Amino acid sequence: EEAIALPNTRFSFEGLFGTFDRASAQRGLQVYMEVCANCHSLRQLYYRNLTALGLSDAEVRAIAATVQVQDGPNDEGQMFERPGRPSDRFRSPFPNEKAARAANNGALPPDLSVIVKAREGGADYIYALLTGYSDPPPGVEVMQGMHYNRYFPGHQIAMAPPLNAGQVSFHDGTQATVEQMARDVTTFLAWAAEPELEERRALGVKIVLFLTVLGGLVYAVKRKIWADVH
Ligand code: HEM
Repeated sequence: EEAIALPNTRFSFEGLFGTFDRASAQRGLQVYMEVCANCHSLRQLYYRNLTALGLSDAEVRAIAATVQVQDGPNDEGQMFERPGRPSDRFRSPFPNEKAARAANNGALPPDLSVIVKAREGGADYIYALLTGYSDPPPGVEVMQGMHYNRYFPGHQIAMAPPLNAGQVSFHDGTQATVEQMARDVTTFLAWAAEPELEERRALGVKIVLFLTVLGGLVYAVKRKIWADVH
């Protein structure tokens, strides 16, 4: 079954000169940590990577320290828990796939590290998915434990609507509507999937500029060299 067309969400990071809206990405980090991290891992990301979002070293240490991570074995051969450090990967909610499925009615919440790149439609799809829950249309039966979503392929998804208005309180006072949280967490996940995007684009622009100047120079030199040939 075909999913319906995605609405076009305008994101700060689109286009040739697009950059990640840092305030939005930081709010998205908060949404991820308070909501999504209960079920989804983000294994490719380390807490120290967050300095690229404009957080200070002290802020990163404080954020890492809000989670307990497994470490060990220690000298006595024991595993133990300790507060997270900047050098740790983002903590996963479940130790393995079996535990993740057991906690989610048999469904597996995918790792979100590269989900924005992995799904067709990218950021537009993630935003649409998060805001796409509704009652099923008349005559459509939703299976036990599933939820109707306009944008999920097949329309029945095991993830209950994860976002509810007012669910987080943003440090910067932004109203936590479902649309706002969806936009912010999507921006955060887009950055997580492609943190080098801005540098890559900046390099591209430099290369185009360089080639333009070089092209002009080559043309001028050619005119000069061939000037006497009639
Ligand atoms: C699937 C994002 C919160 C459980 C997914 C998918 C995404 C996603 C992008 C993949 C959809 C696809 O395959 O196309 C998020 C975000 C969250 C969030 C951004 C926070 C705002 C949660 C929470 C839970 C959860 C809190 C558990 C209570 C699941 C499960 C699936 C899933 C079980 C698999 C669904 C299926 O294959 O039917 N989520 N999620 N998610 N999520 Fe979440």
